[in-house]
Amino acid sequence: IRPDERDYMAQINEAKEFVRRKISQVPELGIILGSGLGPLAEVVENRTEIPYREIPNFPVSTVEGHAGQAVFGRLQGKEVVVMQGRFHYYEGYSMREVTLPVRVMQVLGVKGLIVTNAAGGINAAYKPGDLVLIKDHINLLGDNPLRGANLDDLGLRFPDLSEGYDREWRKKALQVAGETGVRLEEGVYAAMLGPSYETPAEIRFLRTIGADLVGMSTVPEVIAANHGGMRVLGISCVTNMAAGVLPQKLSHLEVMETAERIEKEFVSLVQKIIRV
Ligand code: 6GU
Repeated sequence: IRPDERDYMAQINEAKEFVRRKISQVPELGIILGSGLGPLAEVVENRTEIPYREIPNFPVSTVEGHAGQAVFGRLQGKEVVVMQGRFHYYEGYSMREVTLPVRVMQVLGVKGLIVTNAAGGINAAYKPGDLVLIKDHINLLGDNPLRGANLDDLGLRFPDLSEGYDREWRKKALQVAGETGVRLEEGVYAAMLGPSYETPAEIRFLRTIGADLVGMSTVPEVIAANHGGMRVLGISCVTNMAAGVLPQKLSHLEVMETAERIEKEFVSLVQKIIRV
C-alpha cells in the first residue's frame, strides 16, 4: 500500500470521527441529491446540518453556489444522511474526492444508498419530468474510483457490478410507484464527463450501445458504494431530452426548471420508497 492510499483511509476516518461527534444517531441509509433535487433534505426531522466546508478533508464545492451540506436525521422513521450537493468529476475533483462522501457513509455504517440525478433522456419514450429508476449503468468517464492500490479495508480488488442497482430494492420501488400512481420507468444510465452536453452523434452512439439516460454523475458513487458492500438504488429525473432527440437546443435553465417542477413528486416518491 502506497502512502497516498494510506492517506485516503486516514482522511476518511478523520471525516467520520468529526461527523460522529456531531450526531446523536448513526445513519443506516444514505441519500445523494442531484441538481435541483435538494428539497428532500428539507423534510428531514431531528436534523443536524453539517456544511461540507466544515468536514475535514471534504473537497470545497465550486459550481453549485450554495447548499453543499450533509443533513443527518430521520426520514420516514429511518436514520438517514442526505448529501445536499455532490462533487462532479468535471469540476476537476479526483475520483477519490468525488466518492469521499460515500466512503464516509460506509465507515459510519450506512448499508443502503439512494443516488439521484438530473439526466438527459435518450429513450424517445421518455419525456421531460419523467422519473426513471436506474437499472444499470455504462461508465464512459474514462476513470474509476477504485483505480490504484485496493483499499482492502473498504472492499475487494475486483468487485462484482452485475447487480450494481439492487434488484429487490428496484422491485419495491416500482411497486410503490405503481400503488401511488407515479409513472416510474426503468433505464440504463450512461455517464459522460461533461461539462459540455453531448452532440447529436454522441447521443445516437449512446442509444446504440443501450443507454436510455445520460448524465455527468452518479456512476463513481455507485461503484464506490458497491465496492463498500452497500445496496444501491438510483433515480434519475429526466430534465430534458438529450441532443438531437428534439429539434431544440439544450439549456441548463431547462434542466433546473424541470427538476423544480417535479420536485414535489420526487420527494413523495423517495419518502414512500424509504418507508417500505
Ligand atoms: Cl442531455 N447530458 C448530460 N451529460 N447530462 C445531463 C443532460 C444531458 N441533461 C441533464 N443532465
